[in-house]
Order: sequence, then C-alpha cells, then structure tokens
Amino acid sequence: MNVLLGVSGGIAAYKAADLVSHCRRKGWNVRVVMTRGATEFVRPLTFEALSDHPVMTDALATGHAPDGASAIEHIAWAKWAHVAMVAPLTASTLAKLATGIADDALTTVWLALPAHVPSLLAPAMNTAMWEQPVVQRNLRWLDELGRHVLVPPVSKRLACGDVGVGGLAEVADLVAALEAHAP
Ligand SMILES: Cc1cc2nc3c(=O)[nH]c(=O)nc-3n(C[C@H](O)[C@H](O)[C@H](O)COP(=O)(O)O)c2cc1C
Repeated sequence: MNVLLGVSGGIAAYKAADLVSHCRRKGWNVRVVMTRGATEFVRPLTFEALSDHPVMTDALATGHAPDGASAIEHIAWAKWAHVAMVAPLTASTLAKLATGIADDALTTVWLALPAHVPSLLAPAMNTAMWEQPVVQRNLRWLDELGRHVLVPPVSKRLACGDVGVGGLAEVADLVAALEAHAP
C-alpha cells in the first residue's frame, strides 16, 4: 500500500516520524510531504531516512517524482497514493484545505488527490485554537464536502501545559485509520 503522509507545522510533527516507522513495519510504502512550518519542527532528512524516499517540501522544485515518472510532481505524488493522511494537521493548513488554497507543497498535492484516494485528517493544536469558532467552522466546511475523514484529536495534557482537547490521536489509532481505509 502506498501511504502519502502530509506533515504540517505543529509541535506533534515529531510523532509523524514514529507514524512513518509503524507504516514501514507494516510493509507499506510511505512518501512524506511537509509544509515549510513542519520543517522548522523536524528536518526532512528524518523523514527521508525513515521512509527511504525523498521528501517534498516545495511544490515548485523538481526531482521528487516517484520513479522519475513526471516533472509535474504534485500530480504524480497524488496519483501514487492509495491512501493519504495529514498528521498533524495545523489550524492553518486545515483552513487552506477547507477553502482550496494551495500555496505550499502539502496543500498543492492534497488539491490534486484523485477522488478515489481516501484523505484522512488528524488535527492537533492547543485547545483554545481547536475551540476557536473559525476553526470549528472550517471543520464543518470540510465535513460538508464529504471528501475527508477526520481522525479527531484527543483530550490530554498538551505540550503547552494546558489540559484539554487538541492532542494528536495516538499513533496506533492513526495506523488503524489508515488500515481501515486501505484499498
Ligand atoms: C512551538 C510552536 C508549536 C505550535 N504548535 C502548533 C500546533 O500544535 N497546532 C497548530 O495548529 N499550530 C501550531 N503552531 C502554529 C503553527 O506553526 C503556525 O500557525 C504555522 O503558520 C503553521 O503553518 P503550516 O500549517 O503551513 O505548517 C505552533 C507554533 C509554535 C511556535
């Protein structure tokens, strides 16, 4: 199974590295696309080493196409995927996905995902961000599209010290969600 993993710039980005390891242990192929924000938290090299594939951080750069298949890489990556997941999904990238903005590698690839490729979204953010009306509205907008499956955040002590909803779902639950949507 080909898993396309999108990583955006939240503190939980480091957990995505563990997710890649779990996926590889399942025998799945993994390709990672990161926002610029995500690269501030975890270096692409970590994901390149764990996935054994180049990491896409810039939709306008060349050299990432699977097997050199195409120069139009965001399309090639989107077509390569059997299932796609953004983990962690930030409030900002959520807003872009809800409105169709494609101004970075992750959102550009996601906009190019063929209709048959399941898109799983695992948000993670501070509780105040999660409860923000605009974030909740963006979640409703996404839900109305019927295009994405939400892997909800959990309630826990967050990295900022607050206790509440907003923690990234456990890696085992992310893997289970991918498995549940395997073609
Ligand atoms: C230390 C730190 C931790 C952050 N954690 C989160 C987070 O968990 N969730 C979130 O939505 N934003 C978080 N942010 C804010 C995002 O990094 C910021 O909104 C950024 O523009 C997101 O860009 P991206 O979605 O393109 O990666 C954090 C910022 C900092 C400085």
